[in-house]
Amino acid sequence: MSLADAFKRMFKGAYLEVEDLFLLESFQIGYLPGVVPERELAVVLHEHPAIKHYLVKRNPSVAGFIEGALAKYKPAGNQQELADCSDKLLWTIADLLIYHKCPEVYDSLDFHNWDFGEVIMIAPLDGKIVIDGGAGTGRVTLEVARTARHVFAVEPVARLRRFIREKALKDNMNNIFVIDGFLDTIPLPDGFADVLITSHALGWRLEAELSEFERVVRKGGWIIHCPGTAEVAREEDQHSRLISGVYNYQFSRYRESDGWKRKYWKQL
Ligand SMILES: C[S@@+](CC[C@H](N)C(=O)[O-])C[C@H]1O[C@@H](n2cnc3c(N)ncnc32)[C@H](O)[C@@H]1O
Repeated sequence: MSLADAFKRMFKGAYLEVEDLFLLESFQIGYLPGVVPERELAVVLHEHPAIKHYLVKRNPSVAGFIEGALAKYKPAGNQQELADCSDKLLWTIADLLIYHKCPEVYDSLDFHNWDFGEVIMIAPLDGKIVIDGGAGTGRVTLEVARTARHVFAVEPVARLRRFIREKALKDNMNNIFVIDGFLDTIPLPDGFADVLITSHALGWRLEAELSEFERVVRKGGWIIHCPGTAEVAREEDQHSRLISGVYNYQFSRYRESDGWKRKYWKQL
């Protein structure tokens, strides 16, 4: 199944339009090369030069990729071709757009319902300072906040940071601090946290992220990852790297709504 079809099935009821591309933040635009289908991107940008201008202005590193695609592929021959290309382009990056447009749709996905006891059995969180890296809509953040002293939700998408703050306010949680940042540049001091958790958020710049976690977590503290990768993919690069002698993570399997997954952890 294509990524676009998988997202259509996952985000049922969401509506996307070409102007939603104006919602993308600079770092998300940087993720487009290698993810979006080039022909469909070119067809859409031939038709919408203002969107091309926006993408390149917000993240100049994609200029070569975009110019290359435009030079390689012609404008649409008719309205149907344009509509098909827009649909495929938008749905291939539906997750990025839905974070901005309807975070509540992302927040209601079934996969969030894995048992948070899987984390607590590794490291109790009572009274601890915890970082939730790549916090999304804050599912893990709010779970952690029930027992931790403070939770720092690190999330680069502004709309999602607002969403987490609204949820924390609604639930009367005053120990949640939502901050802008990336996994490889966490804006907190050395040895700051007792525990760092990532859920379905790891590996944009794996090496830099893994060493950043070891900087920001104190000696004796815990790093726990639930990346959402399937249990069967034994040879996958991220798995090999995590369990390698360089990082020495332990791992075991646990159940999510769509199958067996792996969780990883280490104590510093
Ligand atoms: C698949 S979502 C997972 C969200 C949440 N942790 C959960 O379990 O639902 C990935 C999240 O990571 C964020 N993200 C993307 N790139 C990131 C990076 N380099 N550093 C930190 N977070 C990132 C996205 O904005 C998104 O909120």
